[in-house]
Amino acid sequence: MAGLALAGKEIRILGIETSCDETAAAVVADGRRILSSVVASQNKLHERFGGVVPEIASRAHIERIYPVVAQAVEEAGADRDSIDAIAIANQPGLVVALIVGVTAAKALALAWGKPLVAVNHVHAHLQSAMLAEESLDLPAVALVVSGGHTSLYDCESALELELLGSTIDDAAGEAFDKVATILNLPYPGGPSIEKVAKDGDPSAIDFPRSMLDRDSLDFSFSGIKTAVLYYCRGQNMKGENRVASMSGQEIADIAASFQAAVIDVLTAKTRRAADKIGAATVLLGGGVAANTALREALGRMCEESGRKLLVAPRPLCTDNAVMVASLAYHKFRAGQFADMNLEPKARA
Ligand code: KG4
Ligand code: ZN
Repeated sequence: MAGLALAGKEIRILGIETSCDETAAAVVADGRRILSSVVASQNKLHERFGGVVPEIASRAHIERIYPVVAQAVEEAGADRDSIDAIAIANQPGLVVALIVGVTAAKALALAWGKPLVAVNHVHAHLQSAMLAEESLDLPAVALVVSGGHTSLYDCESALELELLGSTIDDAAGEAFDKVATILNLPYPGGPSIEKVAKDGDPSAIDFPRSMLDRDSLDFSFSGIKTAVLYYCRGQNMKGENRVASMSGQEIADIAASFQAAVIDVLTAKTRRAADKIGAATVLLGGGVAANTALREALGRMCEESGRKLLVAPRPLCTDNAVMVASLAYHKFRAGQFADMNLEPKARA
């Protein structure tokens, strides 16, 4: 096994990420020492559509993948000889986007004669929260909140994640993005809502907190999105769209009240999961984890219940390749390699 043959030597992995609208590459040593991290965001390209357009994302990945990988290798001061493996997130995500990274990773692994490691993008998000830790205090509950996923796991280690619950409709980030569109705020919606919400009253409007049934660890965010829509456009969408004539304060109050409702649900469900497995640690990752109010709410919950909270550093919350290379290190050590038949998959 390559992992064992290299025991004692520092392992450098080149990670590649193209699952949605960020083209990213990074070189990480021993799963935690970041030697380089390059992220080419496509936000500007998708902004006017209010969401990611798969064909545009795919084309942009094709244009950017080579320069982004080359820059990551150069900034790390690495070369073919000093890279031990090529890692790629091959699932879940947009297949037309994933295929660009998968093809590049396979080509590079073949050309450089390196092993290929495939990782799950959602699991990789949690690496960003574990990066600074030598070991985890178990049991641990992990919450991934991104544009495509809202998932709670019982986390034994980087490679052992048991799904406890997930969204049955919209992901938390997706709800932020859709509500931002309703409020005519710029894409991506999460950071826009957070910015505007700072001046708003989170208790101004009592939006619904969908907890599903008492013991459920699943999430539902489409109800709150619809509640915001009805608030702005009238029940059954028959009223006029009031957003254009709303004051800045009214928009801020809606944004703050929406954000508070989403955070209440995320915090309550995470608490429920943590109580259920007797968690000593709570991990938080994914794009929505960049949200200050969410970080603070989970911080308070963990403090009250005597748990340690590990949160991804902000630059590593949204999509990046450090998390891919970092998770791949654990797979590398465990001898879990992919081959040239690797394919992108929309769902994990
Ligand atoms: O993890 P990520 O980069 O991509 C996916 O894997 O989906 O997450 C992107 C999502 C978007 O929905 C974006 O609006 C949301 O994360 N997001 C935020 C914040 N920053 C990004 N949501 C709330 N508050 C933020 N500060
Ligand atoms: Zn992501």
